[in-house]
Amino acid sequence: MALSREDMDLIFRNARTHNGWQHKPVNEESLRELYDLMKWAPTTMNTNPARILFLRSREAKERLKPALSPGNADKTMAAPVTAIIAYDVEFYEFLPKLFPHNQNARDIFAGAEKKAPTEKVAFRNGSIQGGYFILAARSVGLDCGPMSGFDNAKVDAEFFAGTSVKSNFLCNLGYGDPAKVMPRNPRPTFDEACKLL
Ligand SMILES: Cc1cc2nc3c(=O)[nH]c(=O)nc-3n(C[C@H](O)[C@H](O)[C@H](O)COP(=O)(O)O)c2cc1C
Repeated sequence: MALSREDMDLIFRNARTHNGWQHKPVNEESLRELYDLMKWAPTTMNTNPARILFLRSREAKERLKPALSPGNADKTMAAPVTAIIAYDVEFYEFLPKLFPHNQNARDIFAGAEKKAPTEKVAFRNGSIQGGYFILAARSVGLDCGPMSGFDNAKVDAEFFAGTSVKSNFLCNLGYGDPAKVMPRNPRPTFDEACKLL
C-alpha cells in the first residue's frame, strides 16, 4: 500500500509554508482530527511527550504577541490559529498508561539524576511529533506556518509557569493565501543528503 501521487503532493510536493491567511475560520473538529491522526506516529517507548496549546482567541494571541520576533508578529496575529508545540519533560508520569506492558518504564526516566537524558528524550520525541503535526495538519486540509522566531522563555513563563511543559516551536494554522507564499527554495539532492552503504 502507498499513498496516491495526489496525496503525496498534498502533504509534501505542493505543500508550502504559509505567511498569509484567508479569512476562513478553522473549526475545532479539524484540530481534533489533526491530533487524532498525529498521535499514532511513533515515539521512543510510546512516550508521546508533545503537548499542544491551540491559541484561537484574540486574548490568547495577545498573550503570545510580546514573545514573537518582529518578522513573525503580524502573520501570527492574523492566523486563525497558532499552535504552541511544546513537550512535557515529565512525560514519564503517563507511561503506566502508555506503556502498560512494562510497569517499570516510568523509573527509566524519573529522578533528578536522570534529568538531562530524560529532557533529551522529551525534546527529541516532542520534535518529531512536531513534524508529524505538520504532516497531519496538511492531511486534514490545513496549511501551516511553523516558526522558531520567538522567545521560548517568555512563552514558557506566560503559558506554562509552574508546569513541566516547555515550548518547542510555534505553528500558525489556517487556509493559506497562495499570493503570500515565498518562492520555493531547492532541497539537498539524494546524493547530497544520503549515503548508501
Ligand atoms: C522549526 C521551523 C522554524 C521556522 N521558523 C521560522 C520563523 O521564525 N519565521 C519564518 O518566517 N519562517 C520560519 N520557518 C519557515 C521555513 O523557513 C520554511 O518552512 C522553509 O523555508 C521551507 O519553506 P516551504 O515549505 O515553503 O518550501 C520555520 C520552519 C520550521 C520548520
